[in-house]
Amino acid sequence: MNVLMAAPEAFPYAKTGGLADAAGALAAELAKMDHHVRLVMPFYRTVKERFPAMDCGRPFEVKIGERIIAGNLYRHENAIFIGCDQLYDRPDLYGTSSGDYADNAVRFIFFSRGVFEAARLCGFKPDIIHCHDWQTGLVPVYLKKIYGADPFFSGTKSVFTIHNMGYQGVFRAETLPLSGLPPGIFNPEGLEFYGKMNFLKAGTVWADIITTVSPTYAGQIQTPEYGFGLDGVLRNRADRLRGIINGIDDCLWNPARDRYIPGNYSAGKIMPGKGICKKRLSSLCGFKDPARPLVSFVGRLSHQKGSDLAAAVAGEAVAEGVDLMFLGKGDDLYQRELAALAEKYPESLCVRIGFDEEFSHLVYAGSDIFLMPSRYEPCGLGQMIALRYGTPPVATGTGGISDTVRNYLPLSGAGTGFLFGETTPGALRQSLWYALCVYRGGNRWRGIVRNAMAEDFSWRKSAARYVEVYGEAMGQASGG
Ligand code: ADP
Ligand code: GLC
Repeated sequence: MNVLMAAPEAFPYAKTGGLADAAGALAAELAKMDHHVRLVMPFYRTVKERFPAMDCGRPFEVKIGERIIAGNLYRHENAIFIGCDQLYDRPDLYGTSSGDYADNAVRFIFFSRGVFEAARLCGFKPDIIHCHDWQTGLVPVYLKKIYGADPFFSGTKSVFTIHNMGYQGVFRAETLPLSGLPPGIFNPEGLEFYGKMNFLKAGTVWADIITTVSPTYAGQIQTPEYGFGLDGVLRNRADRLRGIINGIDDCLWNPARDRYIPGNYSAGKIMPGKGICKKRLSSLCGFKDPARPLVSFVGRLSHQKGSDLAAAVAGEAVAEGVDLMFLGKGDDLYQRELAALAEKYPESLCVRIGFDEEFSHLVYAGSDIFLMPSRYEPCGLGQMIALRYGTPPVATGTGGISDTVRNYLPLSGAGTGFLFGETTPGALRQSLWYALCVYRGGNRWRGIVRNAMAEDFSWRKSAARYVEVYGEAMGQASGG
């Protein structure tokens, strides 16, 4: 099968969150299964600076309203990059901590059209274009309304994966003419959303198959509480909606071989490796006593991730004898809140603002407990990585977290973590206190760590599910 993976970010090229891990690892796993895969993404500054991509010498132009914008293709291994310096040569992918880039609509209209140009110019005839999140939401519409008429794409179908309903790419109605799409689709059955243009809705309406990143989230997004206004659209397309859990790249995230941690370990022999990692992390954080339980948070600092809930119980946790480490980047509000806590508790609370892939390995390995108080979580990779590194999560039992973390059962000793229901500081506190109590009990904790490390989160099963879904999409008649 020929799969064109169109993603706004993908590991190792550019990453702000789990979408990058998922798109990069899925592309690699499909290639291992002997499918022909090309990853297409924007040629951001970070890619340009860190990878020796080759200029393909294939310039192209896209009409955006009255403007003609010129682009170029670059290639690195199986990835094709859509180059356009005026749009992508910037310090960040989508915006800064104070907000999104004002021209994101144009940046991703150009990218979505560039996906078709890239396929054509590189002679890669896709059976499936697999698109990810709102930035590629227009691709399924372009396929149905414009490019499907080109014999090159006559057999092509689209699969659209929603990684997060909280980011929909909603722009002023005046954006539609810039896209070159017919005005007739600007209605509630199409991509109109309360008088605006909604890219995620477009993908949801026109994709041949829609997937999201866990079975539980696939159910949740069809309800008003989690659908962010699109639950009705998703209910209408429920027969085409599938929930497929993400995996993690088990070569990259493997405590037995990880190059970024000072002590390697495995489920069969956890000590001394994990202890060495904890000592290193504790000392880098400036903590005084590595015998204290070390509880950490790694994630985007946004309302979704609930770092504020963790911040609300931080003072009591420190008083309970806990050391706390936060690694994150995101909204100013949450960055400031954490920075203030670090000043207040310099000896037992450490905050690193920034995106630090390498350091995150040490945080997962060197911590005792991983905090993930998400208000909602489509899949979540943090909890899976933490489990693999023998760091049981204290996390909200929502979305993909509830599909991957098994709640600890004291009588049988089964379970891999501690789940709580309500996203309140009180519920988090109770769950954390319980986890600490078990941690201090010794033996039972070691059992949870072993259970956690024995879980299989590799991509194999999920990639096979995607192949089934591609097959379903290809079996569908064209229309729309
Ligand atoms: P989301 O995609 O919603 O941000 P996930 O849990 O799916 O959340 O994935 C987050 C990914 O990004 C994980 O690989 C996590 O380790 C990584 N990550 C998040 N924040 C940081 C950070 N500040 N530094 C390093 N890695 C981070
Ligand atoms: C999103 C979600 C996260 C998911 C990731 C990869 O950003 O917030 O839950 O794991 O995408 O699918």
